[in-house]
Amino acid sequence: MADTRMQNAAPSVPRPRRPAPLSAPDETRPPPHRPLRLIQITDSHLFAHAEGRLLGLNTRCTFEAVLSLALEGTTPADALVMTGDLVQDETGEGYAYLARMLEATGLPCFCIPGNHDRRDLMEQWLGAAAMGPIADNRIDGWHLIFLDSTLPGEDGGRLTARQVHHLDALLERDPSRHCLVFLHQQPVPIGSAWMDTMGVANGAQLLAVCNRHPHVKSVICGHIHQEFAQAHGHYQILGTPSTCFQFRPDSPNFALDERTPGYRDLWLHADGRLTTRVVRLPQYPQPPSFDATGY
Ligand SMILES: [Fe+2]
Repeated sequence: MADTRMQNAAPSVPRPRRPAPLSAPDETRPPPHRPLRLIQITDSHLFAHAEGRLLGLNTRCTFEAVLSLALEGTTPADALVMTGDLVQDETGEGYAYLARMLEATGLPCFCIPGNHDRRDLMEQWLGAAAMGPIADNRIDGWHLIFLDSTLPGEDGGRLTARQVHHLDALLERDPSRHCLVFLHQQPVPIGSAWMDTMGVANGAQLLAVCNRHPHVKSVICGHIHQEFAQAHGHYQILGTPSTCFQFRPDSPNFALDERTPGYRDLWLHADGRLTTRVVRLPQYPQPPSFDATGY
């Protein structure tokens, strides 16, 4: 299904090879008859072992529950975006498991790294679905741009001058396509002091570029393990719940929230409108250690 709508997308079957080069635009296809539906899934924190747990949660179990929730229902998805912290223990076995799960969706998949990822293992096991340091893809009238905002050994992130310049150039080159920008760390403070020490250090540079391009519709991150939405001129900055535990919004210190794991639906309309919602599991398969003070 999705392959009939997606042009120049990463293949739906992740293979251990180098990422594909930047795609070329396709101007020949007719407009879609319905909005494109992207699924954003983030911060799965998977392990090599099927019983691997983080703060009491079996993260494969919660990931599979959220993925199933995202794929069920009557509206088919057109692509899946994963915005980092894919594999907590940074093992090949963890990425191999993820590759199998992504393959089973049959969807084009785009994965960017988080601070708990290994780029080399992502490229080895996810192949062309591993996006970065900056990569893009065009889908109907929309342009998806993926940024690797991570810094080796750091929880916070930063974009290089080359990435910022390349982003500006990509946006300048294709002003007729509505655009979404994906990265792991949040580019703005979210009101949670401990999390705000580990955002994108030069997020203001990213936003300054986006401010200059009215076809940017949203900047979308993972990392914060909570729902977030902030209007910023002509675009929205969005954050999304993790598929495992959730961080308590507005907390000055590390604290878990009792809200359940979830994902984000993104509907990309032909006229440039973006509609979105967060969908959560009705309950935890098993509860995390809510009194944890870190992980
Ligand atoms: Fe995370």
